[in-house]
Amino acid sequence: MKYHLFIKFFFLTTLVFSSLVTGSPSQIMPRIIGGTTSQADLWPWMAGLTPKNASAAAVFCGASLIAKDWVLTAGHCVVGQSPADFDVIINQAQLDADTGERIAVERIVLHPQYNSITLDNDLALIKLKSASQIQPIQLVSPYSNQDAPGKSAFALGWGAVISSGDLFPLDLRQVVLPLVSNTTCSFSMNEDISDDMLCAGDGLGLRDTCSGDSGGPLIVFDSESHTWRQAGITSWGNGCAELGTYGVYTRTKNYAEFISSQICSVQEIPASPSLRLDINANMVGLDWNSGSGVASYRLNYAPYPGAQYIASMDMNLLTHFNADLVSGSAYYVAITSYNNNCLSDYSNIEHFVIP
Ligand code: ARG
Repeated sequence: MKYHLFIKFFFLTTLVFSSLVTGSPSQIMPRIIGGTTSQADLWPWMAGLTPKNASAAAVFCGASLIAKDWVLTAGHCVVGQSPADFDVIINQAQLDADTGERIAVERIVLHPQYNSITLDNDLALIKLKSASQIQPIQLVSPYSNQDAPGKSAFALGWGAVISSGDLFPLDLRQVVLPLVSNTTCSFSMNEDISDDMLCAGDGLGLRDTCSGDSGGPLIVFDSESHTWRQAGITSWGNGCAELGTYGVYTRTKNYAEFISSQICSVQEIPASPSLRLDINANMVGLDWNSGSGVASYRLNYAPYPGAQYIASMDMNLLTHFNADLVSGSAYYVAITSYNNNCLSDYSNIEHFVIP
């Protein structure tokens, strides 16, 4: 059974208040299911949603700052809510510390295909009334393999610390969760897991996100850019930390283009590069022009002619690439560029076959 926001929302607000009265639960309980308290300044872009006339401690969902004036959260966190209903807190790991930012909401963009039954496309963008001072987190790039099964991720949140889902911490917590394949996840949970979902967990009932963690980020360390990237948004589970089940997250990689189109102005989107291809015996040479306002280029490639998959790699600010390929290698190639979470269009798409 999928947890539903309404139940959570009311439970949560009541229980956070009661936990304030009874003292800090993070002291007396084991950490978020299997996790630990985060260092206060480690994840500055971590955000939360809190009801308009309540303290930060009434946070009912997580979120993440993805541009100076936009946060990303789960669709089910904001469905039925209006901008006047809640505020966004940013960089406030300790809910009772009052050190972070609290910003009102200008506009909510629920994903147009959000499905409240299957929780497909469980994502929403929240435009802030004023800009945050915090550096946003970068999302995992389209076609990257940084959210592949076997990688380890961190989930962050102020959600419940016990599987019954009714004890909430004041200090932000984190838990390490291995990413698992959709096949394993769907088989062991006996649920439909769409391509737009990403599963993470130990499957042993020890570590998981839980009620109240929804909307918060699932992050991976990207070995190409050496930065933390957001790979998922906490979405749903069958209970919390139950044996043989996993937590299900919205796979943010699949929404990078949608997100860019919603949050970036024309001026913020880098121009699409133009690509020149040069084949010399077994050597492939790629060159592209540099543009202004580019944080990194990506080389996208797919097998020619079938394009059975698309993969990509980060080129940072390099504008050329050479490789010695075996005879018969055949690929499509194209360059994209990005700046923060704003993505350019594709360059011209070229292809080659090594003789
Ligand atoms: N839907 C929940 C929320 O609103 C998150 C549940 C995550 N559950 C899990 N077992 N991983 O907070």
